[in-house]
Amino acid sequence: MSAPTPIIIDTDPGVDDAMAILYALSDPAVELVGLTSVFGNVTGDRASRNARALLELAGSDLPVAEGAHRPVVQDLQPPADFVHGVEGFGEAMLPAPARAPDPRPAHDFIAEMLAERPGEITLVPVGPLTNIALALDAHPEITKLVKRVVVMGGAVRRVGNVNDFAEANIWQDPHAAATVFAADWPMTLVGLDVTEQIICTRADIAAMTGPSPRCGAFMAHAAEFYFRFHKDSADIDGCHLHDPAAVIAALDMSAFETVSAPLTVTLDGAEAGMTREGGDGPPIDICIGVDADAVLTRFRDHLSSGRLP
Ligand code: BDR
Ligand code: CA
Repeated sequence: MSAPTPIIIDTDPGVDDAMAILYALSDPAVELVGLTSVFGNVTGDRASRNARALLELAGSDLPVAEGAHRPVVQDLQPPADFVHGVEGFGEAMLPAPARAPDPRPAHDFIAEMLAERPGEITLVPVGPLTNIALALDAHPEITKLVKRVVVMGGAVRRVGNVNDFAEANIWQDPHAAATVFAADWPMTLVGLDVTEQIICTRADIAAMTGPSPRCGAFMAHAAEFYFRFHKDSADIDGCHLHDPAAVIAALDMSAFETVSAPLTVTLDGAEAGMTREGGDGPPIDICIGVDADAVLTRFRDHLSSGRLP
């Protein structure tokens, strides 16, 4: 087997963020270097707390560096409590984490980790792109140090999920997204164009509970709220698999079809957060097709493999 892929997940946990993080901890093809937290689905404080609580649930002592509490330019939007619940994990509660965050702010943590292992680490942002934009501003050399950047965000050839124009992660901080899309580094966009094609069911999550009782019971409880949101808003029996799809794309692109094009983000007005092909930026690999069964099978098989407690 080839060496595991080192990744940093930048996250706003978040039910599907929790799925992505637990998945990353369960797949031996991943070396999770650490987490960085960002406002989005929840407040900045809550994101840091949730990231640490989740790692403790899974018995991991990896670092969590706390990041942005607000967007770089626009006003902070209220947390998406109707999607992820008031505390971010639906109606599931985790105990307050025992460990403090890493002393470094997220953008410095990212830059230091990339500098320690030049060309090795893949960044996987699955929340608003604020920390990544701040890292680019403070440490522009990271474009040469990162292996890849695999972003969950955007809706390039289809409608958004916040409104007809925008996907949530880009809508929360479009100026940060514009900075990240303008950077000259190897980048893949895993947006609604593919994540809304992958439907994770209650049975997929329930498969965890026997082999991994602690994490499985938590994930099943947390996901229930998210499943109800998808039923009410889109008449889906299950949920879209957003953030875990980005982690899987960071490991193996064989299930994804891409086109290479620059991306333009609308910064304000009614269409703020809209992502469209075109513009002056560097080309980005934009996912436009997916073998949904392959992604879902990999997700479910590792999560239910019993590697988590
Ligand atoms: C993205 O927005 C958040 O609600 C999810 O965690 C995911 O990262 C999907 O649009
Ligand atoms: Ca997220």
